[in-house]
Amino acid sequence: MKIQGKVFVVTGGASGLGAATATYLVGQGAQVIMVDMNQELGQEMQQRLGEHSVFVKLDVTDEHAVKVFFENIEQQYGQLNGLVNCAGIAPSAKVLGRDGIHDLGMFQKVLNINVSGTFNMIRFAASLMAKYQLQAGEEERGVIVNTASVAAFEGQLGQAAYAASKGAVVSMTLPLARELAREAIRVMTIAPGIMETPMLKAMPQNVQDALGQMVPFPSRLAKPEEFAHLVGHIFENTYLNGEVIRLDGAIRMQPK
Ligand SMILES: NC(=O)c1ccc[n+]([C@@H]2O[C@H](COP(=O)([O-])OP(=O)(O)OC[C@H]3O[C@@H](n4cnc5c(N)ncnc54)[C@H](O)[C@@H]3O)[C@@H](O)[C@H]2O)c1
Repeated sequence: MKIQGKVFVVTGGASGLGAATATYLVGQGAQVIMVDMNQELGQEMQQRLGEHSVFVKLDVTDEHAVKVFFENIEQQYGQLNGLVNCAGIAPSAKVLGRDGIHDLGMFQKVLNINVSGTFNMIRFAASLMAKYQLQAGEEERGVIVNTASVAAFEGQLGQAAYAASKGAVVSMTLPLARELAREAIRVMTIAPGIMETPMLKAMPQNVQDALGQMVPFPSRLAKPEEFAHLVGHIFENTYLNGEVIRLDGAIRMQPK
């Protein structure tokens, strides 16, 4: 898919990987709608990126609000070509912690945002993408890129909820790609390692350096721009479909 002139929705677009992705896509000539719960950061992003971007405050788990959001996209832009799901949360807690057993509500919240939120966006996005009229020379109507984590494969101590949620994102990739193939829509997932996003930048420099040293090569945290670049490649390479790509410098996480 050619990125220039196409319409993309990026969730979690106010911060970290979503913000880097929105910046990259606008730089390639796309129209980008960023959605996030963080209105202040989202509006800053919109100002920074200019007229080819717009920020909409949206909770990806809200069934009604997401339906209305996509109806508005259809009215305003008449098409949707790409969805990048970056919205997510990553709390950690032990099953048997110092303060008692793992809170069930917290487990459900992680699953709700990371899995149901991702799926909620996918179902409405796919429905709109399927209406796209292919232009001469075009092969595909839409591309969906999800964000899992290496925790889907090597969840660490305290990551039962987070790892379960990212495992679900990994597992839904192939059945979605299989089903949406007949609409010429591709579905891919990226499983990042340790990324230099605001979450990690808040840690002391020596902790960041120690985390970076754990990565075989390059021995540093990944830059959000490297994630965005991979998203761009996935959009442009039509033969990538139904697969999960680790973006991790060959790291395999240890138990803790
Ligand atoms: N940073 C890392 O090292 C890393 C590693 C692996 C995977 N990931 C995954 O990448 C994704 C992005 O992470 P990040 O590091 O950029 O984090 P981030 O916290 O910088 O960005 C996530 C954004 O999602 C938004 N969000 C949370 N819940 C939402 C909801 N219900 N509706 C809409 N927006 C919501 C937040 O407001 C935030 O702006 C997450 O899914 C995370 O699990 C991150």
